[in-house]
Amino acid sequence: MSEPKKMIGAYLPGDSSVAFKEYAIPELKHGEVLLRTKASTICGSDIRCIYNEHLGKGPEAYQQEMVAGHEPAGQVVACGPGIREFKAGDRVVIYHISGCGVCNDCRRGYQISCTSEEYRKAYGWQRHGGMAPYIVAEEKDLVHLPDSLTYADGAQVACGFGTVYEGLEKIGISGNDAVLITGLGPVGLAAAMLCRCLGAKNIIGIEAMPERIEIARELPLRKGDASFKLFDSVLAAGPDNEAEVRALTGGHGVERAVECSAHHEARLTAIQATRKWGKIVLIGEGGTLSADFAPSRDMIHDQKTLYGSWVTNLWRMDELLERLARWEVHPEDLITHRFGLEDAAKAYELMASGKCGKVAVCFDEELEA
Ligand SMILES: NC(=O)c1ccc[n+]([C@@H]2O[C@H](COP(=O)([O-])OP(=O)(O)OC[C@H]3O[C@@H](n4cnc5c(N)ncnc54)[C@H](O)[C@@H]3O)[C@@H](O)[C@H]2O)c1
Ligand SMILES: [Zn+2]
Ligand SMILES: [Zn+2]
Repeated sequence: MSEPKKMIGAYLPGDSSVAFKEYAIPELKHGEVLLRTKASTICGSDIRCIYNEHLGKGPEAYQQEMVAGHEPAGQVVACGPGIREFKAGDRVVIYHISGCGVCNDCRRGYQISCTSEEYRKAYGWQRHGGMAPYIVAEEKDLVHLPDSLTYADGAQVACGFGTVYEGLEKIGISGNDAVLITGLGPVGLAAAMLCRCLGAKNIIGIEAMPERIEIARELPLRKGDASFKLFDSVLAAGPDNEAEVRALTGGHGVERAVECSAHHEARLTAIQATRKWGKIVLIGEGGTLSADFAPSRDMIHDQKTLYGSWVTNLWRMDELLERLARWEVHPEDLITHRFGLEDAAKAYELMASGKCGKVAVCFDEELEA
């Protein structure tokens, strides 16, 4: 098959709209592959930093008219010179930041925090991303997608699930733990799915939007098995949340908390509703912590540990894909709406409204799924 030279892709002008234009598909350089995009999901960060306005700085600065979409999965259709591991036909997830490959962070696999100003480029931010039918990617950014997972599963791992898995590995989740998850957007839902797989028994969610409370209450761990829900309890965000969580945990609070809302009050609840010696991870980005935070009362005297966690590393993304296949769970079950690329404007608008679970732009067989 001869590869196309041009395509129509979507970019985000920064005024809550989506625009389309023609992009050239360049000749592949050393170490590059061409992917046919199959699924490209929308992240809360896209809405926060790019869609409504171009807010980001440094690694979060969106370059004008870049093809949007940092959560892509697709199939290799052509390889440039020097490709070592991947070949045409391979199903892959893109680790969504291409790093320099040789700084300390890149050598740890954390291309997210690559320190090279010249070479660090995130797909959908500083280089073309997944909201187009083809993506030029670097081989070193690819991770194999197991056969039993769909491209829509893979797209979710490119950012959200990878991020959550990293955060959960930092605080350690097991069958010993009651877990509080604050903010039940796609990231919070991913946290619940992975906590279930890791054995957590009492999973409590807190969310502010009624539509999302409803979705979180209904979602099962596996589609078609309504008997095993993602959450044990879902609470509406409010001033009594700490007391409510304590009431659900014998008065003690949870062993682990995963903060996915970025809201200053929810962050405080996550810290305060965690019991002595417990661990909390902050994943939601932006904003501040409530001015009512009192370090001695809320953390120091209760010997708590607070982590921050940014995306994940390449080997852990690979490991997560293997685990998802082993656990027989599908991240795509959290997708409530799929759109074709021509309807990308509707997809972003819906995600910005929050009246949804995960939203995906899909191609080929993934659109029919
Ligand atoms: N740390 C990382 O590496 C990383 C990676 C990806 C995304 N993120 C961030 O994670 C967050 C979640 O991503 P998402 O795609 O699910 O975004 P999202 O905006 O869809 O979800 C956030 C949810 O928090 C809810 N919320 C707001 N105030 C609340 C409150 N007081 N209590 C409880 N819930 C409240 C919102 O209603 C919303 O449903 C975003 O801030 C995103 O930027 C971080
Ligand atoms: Zn993201
Ligand atoms: Zn680097």
